[in-house]
Amino acid sequence: MTAGKPLLLPSRRSDVPPFYAMDVLRSASALRAAGRDVLSLCVGQPSIGAPKLVRDEAARLIASDIIGYTEALGLPALRERIAQYYRERYGVNVPAERIVVTTGSSGAFLLAFLAAFDDGARIALARPGYPPYFAIQKALDLEAVPVDVDQSTGFQITADHVDALCFQPGGLNGVMVASPANPTGSMLPKADFAALIGACAAHGVRLISDEIYHGITFGKREHSALEFTDDAIVINSFSKYFCMTGWRLGWMVVPQNLVRPIEALVQSFYISAPTISQAAAIRAFDCTEELDQIVAGYARNRDILMEALPKMGITRFAPVDGAFYLYADVSPFTNDSMSFCARLLDDTGVALTPGVDFDARNGHSFVRISFAGSEADTADAMRRLQGWLRG
Ligand SMILES: Cc1ncc(COP(=O)(O)O)c(C=O)c1O
Repeated sequence: MTAGKPLLLPSRRSDVPPFYAMDVLRSASALRAAGRDVLSLCVGQPSIGAPKLVRDEAARLIASDIIGYTEALGLPALRERIAQYYRERYGVNVPAERIVVTTGSSGAFLLAFLAAFDDGARIALARPGYPPYFAIQKALDLEAVPVDVDQSTGFQITADHVDALCFQPGGLNGVMVASPANPTGSMLPKADFAALIGACAAHGVRLISDEIYHGITFGKREHSALEFTDDAIVINSFSKYFCMTGWRLGWMVVPQNLVRPIEALVQSFYISAPTISQAAAIRAFDCTEELDQIVAGYARNRDILMEALPKMGITRFAPVDGAFYLYADVSPFTNDSMSFCARLLDDTGVALTPGVDFDARNGHSFVRISFAGSEADTADAMRRLQGWLRG
């Protein structure tokens, strides 16, 4: 360094914890590139591509059209199609004008937090929970308020939590829920969801509902916050059920008075979500038969895990009612899930995600197993894990 030259440092706001799942994925990819036989159960992405109708439509568009920007809030035809989806799937009427098309649900979180909260706002998050909620809030100078959840509350934030937090110093401005949730797969029963929304309404707390895993459930029915209120911000995505992670497309349904502020933010942030993805995604809603077959495959993978894990001494895990994750207590084997996952990957080629990603306090003795891959890989991973644990 030149003497006297001031050191230019990264901002305080950018000091957010890494998402270790992506680090594990990088190590797994490096091992695979080096010729190792790697089974990746560390990342939450379907191993099957977008439905054929979607891919065909995208190919047609690339060949035929100038691909320009769309309106900031999204292609009108896609917003209309999403509104129709809410009518058909949940029986709720949402005007297309309250639907905002986003760059994945990740883009939606940023917009939602910015539009709904001022800096310093306190937002309750389930712990364990999806790490980017916390990171984005930190980067925006919001205060994430972790709520430790476990079996006793179905791994979800409850109305009682909201009541209690509202009476604490600082109060509460927002609650973020996901049902089904990542990493626990837990779901909010209808009555609990209604009570939670009632508590938010009573205290003037904004609810944000991440509904990205809707469509991927195993016997229970998922509910949209829109079935109970128009005041919530509901976020969804084409990434999971629709198998379109890399298309970077999601949406949110927002209260009427947030539409214009969000439109202005989008215009400045990224102008519009990817046009080809938007136009092709309209067809995704006609592919539910194909997509439900894929969910049936997840259900078979889930059965494989539920049968194999107890035989290896892993007997405690969150409910696995939805999404494609099993969050397992591995305390009989380790209290350092980071090194456990690193050794497992090194020794067997099986990549799992350390629980510390989702829960900085108690995640040291948990791992998340994604079962979004093929049946053969899931079964093979369980065989390798069992052999490794037996030593
Ligand atoms: C709970 C949850 N929300 C949001 C996302 C982000 O999805 P995307 O930005 O691809 O829509 C993920 C990804 O794993 C997730 O698990």
